[in-house]
Amino acid sequence: MKILVTGGAGYIGSHTVLELLAHGHDVEALDNLDNSSAESIRRVEKLAGRDVPLHELDLRDEPAVTALFADGGYDSVIHFAGHKAVGESVAKPLDYYGNNLESTLVLLRAMAASGTRQLVFSSSATVYGDLAPVPYQENYQPLGSSNPYGWTKVMIEQILTDLAASDASWRIGILRYFNPVGAHESGEIGEDPSGIPNNLTPYIAQVAVGRRESLTVFGDDYPTPDGTPLRDYIHVVDLATGHVAALEHLSSSEGGARAWNLGTGHGTSVFEVIAAFERASGVKVAYTVGPRRAGDLPESYGDPARAEAELGWKATRSIDDMLTDLWRWQSQNPRGFRD
Ligand code: NAD
Ligand code: WQD
Repeated sequence: MKILVTGGAGYIGSHTVLELLAHGHDVEALDNLDNSSAESIRRVEKLAGRDVPLHELDLRDEPAVTALFADGGYDSVIHFAGHKAVGESVAKPLDYYGNNLESTLVLLRAMAASGTRQLVFSSSATVYGDLAPVPYQENYQPLGSSNPYGWTKVMIEQILTDLAASDASWRIGILRYFNPVGAHESGEIGEDPSGIPNNLTPYIAQVAVGRRESLTVFGDDYPTPDGTPLRDYIHVVDLATGHVAALEHLSSSEGGARAWNLGTGHGTSVFEVIAAFERASGVKVAYTVGPRRAGDLPESYGDPARAEAELGWKATRSIDDMLTDLWRWQSQNPRGFRD
């Protein structure tokens, strides 16, 4: 298959491009490099021994995107491009609704015009909102969110569902990711946040490598076994194989839009993550316990049974694998792709 990966230079996108190449697909990436570097694609090319054309474009540039599709001959698209920081979305809602919704609409119109009707979309566990019981199940309603970022995912899921209902030739997979962590086992590509990391594991890795002094654990008084929140951490390479499985499933499926959780099905606490990282790296992580972060839930994990039954996919890598691979990436590239 010939596949265009939007946001292909980003964290999950670059790992998925590599996995698609390993499965024999032809892959091109589109990215405006707003939150990534072309170096990730260069390293993917080196690892795969194949070229990956990178279209350095903003997806909101409709004439350019339409022209790309008119010539591209793409069988399928994986759509990762978008802004993703929850806190920033609260401060800059128009940037988030603007970028995430406009870029998706431009993409869908260009696909419709060119006849490309197969799409895998990056959704998020955040669409389950604050009230869904764990483990989250795909048929839970109503979807919702506590922040503009999450609402963009809910809204895009609705747009995709309506589009598929209007025309049965669309084949659309909606993948709801839990907490992607880790890096490719080569240590050549990984997560490279700009500025202060928002997420737990990149923060821990930057403390361990000496870029930050100490981690703040956001509360240890939650109603969980050790008082810290539980999350469904999933290895980014497992997530990448989930995309390949979803694409292959869609290719032989009838039209429609369908959601699948991509997670492990169980929660790990913040203290357990710190302990696993210390085991993996041999480095002690300095931390203090601070107040809770607004909006954090005590527990978030999904039921992955639908993905296993329908896509034949299951996460196989453990939390120790995730943190061993994270440490290999961070210790080999202390300043990320700038090294
Ligand atoms: P990322 O920021 O590393 O990758 C997103 C890429 O999209 C970046 O390379 C960025 O430059 C590009 N981009 C943004 N706006 C663009 C535009 N208008 N035109 C072209 N390119 C644009 O993020 P990631 O962690 O790889 O996430 C990928 C997708 O998965 C996102 O949609 C995100 O919301 C979703 N997701 C991520 C997580 C997570 O915790 N990382 C969890 C659930 C869902
Ligand atoms: C994990 C745990 C924090 C940082 C976010 C988005 C979600 C999805 C994935 C995109 C929590 C604790 C964190 C720190 C800490 N993204 N923590 N100190 O919040 O589960 O999910 O990323 O769709 O929508 O909300 O991930 O890594 O930020 O936090 O104690 O410095 O680590 O309180 O319990 P989260 P996270």
